[in-house]
This record gives sequence, C-alpha cells and structure tokens, in this order.
Amino acid sequence: MIKKDAVFFGKMDKPTAQARIQGPCGDSMEFFLKIVRNKVRQVRCFTSGCGASKACAVETARMAQGKSLAGALLISPGKVIRTLKNVPEDHLHCAILSVSTLHRAIALYLMSGKKKIKVRG
Ligand code: FES
Repeated sequence: MIKKDAVFFGKMDKPTAQARIQGPCGDSMEFFLKIVRNKVRQVRCFTSGCGASKACAVETARMAQGKSLAGALLISPGKVIRTLKNVPEDHLHCAILSVSTLHRAIALYLMSGKKKIKVRG
C-alpha cells in the first residue's frame, strides 16, 4: 500500500453510511462514508483480507472520495482492476467485494430515506 493511500484504510467514528460484506472467500470488507449534500466527503475501508483485497478497497475508496453518490455508484470492479493493473487473475473477486461493499453502504443510506438522488444515463 502506498503511504498516501493509507489514509483511506481504517475505520471511522460516526459515519453517515456504512456496510460490511463477507465474501465467499471468508474475508470481510467494510466501508464507512461521510456524506454531505449528496457527496462522499470522506471514505474509509477496512478488510481482514488478503493484500489484493486491501489494494482494491483502498483504490475503491480513493475513487469514491469527493464523488457525488451517483458518481460513486458508477465505480466498477473493472475500473478498479484496470487502474491497479496488477490484481492477480485468481483475486479479481477482491475488486468485486470492495465495490459491492461501497455500493451497499450507499444503497443502505439511500434506502434509509435520508436522501434521494438522480442518476443520469
Ligand atoms: Fe478474500 Fe481477497 S478478499 S481473497
């Protein structure tokens, strides 16, 4: 993990939204978001998983930081894999787990009735 990205790794007190998913590999992934006026102002991710899952989680968090909720929902595992370039073929599911956890946190936030957003496209 590059030092500047370490800021995204960890937990958060009083997040606006959060989610945890346990992947089929048995590892868990958590995302914590501070959402202000429909934007992801702060992101933290945490996983007990492998190096690839940490790299994917941090890249997913880095991509989501500062985005609108709609923009964060457009982040895909493919985008994370293409950006990292070195995710091993047998660890592509780590990118799916990280993006799914981010999206679940946003979905739980939106379904809590706190906010409505428009998604274009
Ligand atoms: Fe379980 Fe990477 S998340 S192997």
